Amino acid sequence: MAEVSLDAAAKKTLLRKIPHGVFICGVAEGDEVNGFTASWVTQGSFEPPLVVMAVRADSTSNGVIQRTGRFSLNVLAADQKDLAAVFFKPQKALGGRFDAAPFQLGALGLPILDDALGAVECQLVGQVAAGDHTVFVGEVKSAVLHRDGAALELGPTGWQYGG
Ligand SMILES: Cc1cc2nc3c(=O)[nH]c(=O)nc-3n(C[C@H](O)[C@H](O)[C@H](O)COP(=O)(O)O)c2cc1C
Repeated sequence: MAEVSLDAAAKKTLLRKIPHGVFICGVAEGDEVNGFTASWVTQGSFEPPLVVMAVRADSTSNGVIQRTGRFSLNVLAADQKDLAAVFFKPQKALGGRFDAAPFQLGALGLPILDDALGAVECQLVGQVAAGDHTVFVGEVKSAVLHRDGAALELGPTGWQYGG
């Protein structure tokens, strides 16, 4: 392919226009659970139902997903920005973020937040590790709906994750 020069500013402006939600991804390994805020999430197939999520290569949860082959995605309500903030901040010990958020383990043994609108649990079916994030593809195996409502979206939070 011919060499092209990337306009870094244009790239950043344009990629930040991709709309995102704000989710809490849950992972579990042995007796340990962990969770983190994830916005790089989208659906990838109707049948089977697939979701796609990019996870920082150097994060704790990335390794857990690699080793266990599963993750949950909790869908937050539009007024749960504070809860999302808990899940991207450093924690004293693995799983400590859940001190602020009661949860149950779902059918696949993954954390499902009591206060979220609901959650899906996914089995890992593929991945691409080509950059500073790993793109995971998960098949939705279980879904729990606590209540319906408007979901938290990234734009109104004023946070940036992208570009
Ligand atoms: C608004 C926002 C969106 C984020 N989205 C993602 C994401 O999609 N994927 C990701 O790996 N990290 C994302 N993060 C960063 C993680 O939440 C953060 O790195 C977390 O500390 C990782 O936790 P862990 O190391 O315990 O797994 C986001 C952070 C913020 C503030």
